[in-house]
Amino acid sequence: MNFQLSEEHKMIREAARDFTVQELLPGVVERDTNMIFPHEQVKKMGELGFMGMMNDPEYGGGGMDTLSYVIALEEMSKHDASASVIMSVNNSLVCWGLDAYGTPEQKQQYLLPLASGEKLGAFALSEPEAGSDATSQKTTAIEKEDHYVLNGTKNWITNGGNADYYLIIAQTHPELKHRGINVFIIEKGWEGFTIGPKEDKLGIRSSDTHSLMFDNVKVPKENRVGEDGFGFKFAMKTLSGGRIGIAAQALGIAAGAYERALAYSKIRKSFGTEICNHQAIAFKLADMYAKIEGARMLVYKSAVDKDNGDNYDLSSATAKLVASQVAMEVTVEAVQIHGGNGYVKEYHVERLMRDAKITQIYEGTSEIQKIVISRSILKD
Ligand code: CAA
Repeated sequence: MNFQLSEEHKMIREAARDFTVQELLPGVVERDTNMIFPHEQVKKMGELGFMGMMNDPEYGGGGMDTLSYVIALEEMSKHDASASVIMSVNNSLVCWGLDAYGTPEQKQQYLLPLASGEKLGAFALSEPEAGSDATSQKTTAIEKEDHYVLNGTKNWITNGGNADYYLIIAQTHPELKHRGINVFIIEKGWEGFTIGPKEDKLGIRSSDTHSLMFDNVKVPKENRVGEDGFGFKFAMKTLSGGRIGIAAQALGIAAGAYERALAYSKIRKSFGTEICNHQAIAFKLADMYAKIEGARMLVYKSAVDKDNGDNYDLSSATAKLVASQVAMEVTVEAVQIHGGNGYVKEYHVERLMRDAKITQIYEGTSEIQKIVISRSILKD
């Protein structure tokens, strides 16, 4: 077992750190306050190869491993979790599935511009009544001659307003339940496809979240991904990888808050000394450090499981469960260490605390991760 990062992984961390500090950190408070999507920054992320890191270079991807992707996400999330979720959805939830299950034509037409960052993707599984209970899809895609007719509503879709291409999960054969579900590639602007207003969220405010409405949208048959009825398995497999990304995001949020609290504790004085000299603060920092180190091991292990071709359903759910809990606990403590300053925007930790919460909700709540984990450990 080797706990050292390779030189290549260290270089990826440096590159992601430089980009984050130079391009994402400036303006992050304003974008968060005013819910401004980071268009320029996402364009640059594409040019630097961050939007399709793990994909086949033949189709615009970077051909990198999952650990590289996790390291880049961790660095970005230290300062801008909105930018990192935009990147994570495009990489894990859109490009990965197209690369793994798309036809050569689908890859040429859709994966190539998505992985190279020319276009942006969104993944739409959740519905008003199918969030955690993902098999209960009400959106339908009914076969008619040479196409499908799509009807229904999707909720809480990350990149919902700014995406160009969407992966939509829909029920084709209701009598077959989850085995009748399919996944389709839909383009923005198709007749009958409308996008609802932007959600005003607690955190990750500069990423955009919308409902999507489909009213008799005509979808060519060649835009179905995988065999008829493969959509639910596609979604579950995609989400297993997505959870590694969100676990990395949670880890980065925690690490970013810890780094800020550590630095602040060395300059802020109370009772005649820097506050890090008070055991009450030093012990908090020790707890934060230990929790982050533990979470990082789980996140990196899950990435390595995926890279080794091992099953990563259990390790990704475990990493997400623990890292998101650590993100919540550590960011709350970071605010506490900052005292009154922690409660105002310019010190950044209040934003990280708000951003941390979503990591316990999206791509499966903490309760969903416990379902996945308990089923896995109880099955033998
Ligand atoms: N890989 C492959 N197949 C899988 C699988 C996996 N990881 N997990 C389940 N399946 C298959 C099962 O084998 C089963 O297939 P068969 O019946 O053919 O054998 C089928 O899927 C149904 O599985 P279950 O019986 O386990 O289904 P369930 O109804 O009990 O639900 C669940 C399982 C884990 C709770 C699932 O519904 C789930 O993950 N829910 C949460 C959904 C979620 O994460 N939503 C997030 C939306 S995306 C998002 O948040 C993006 C964003 O904004 C950033």
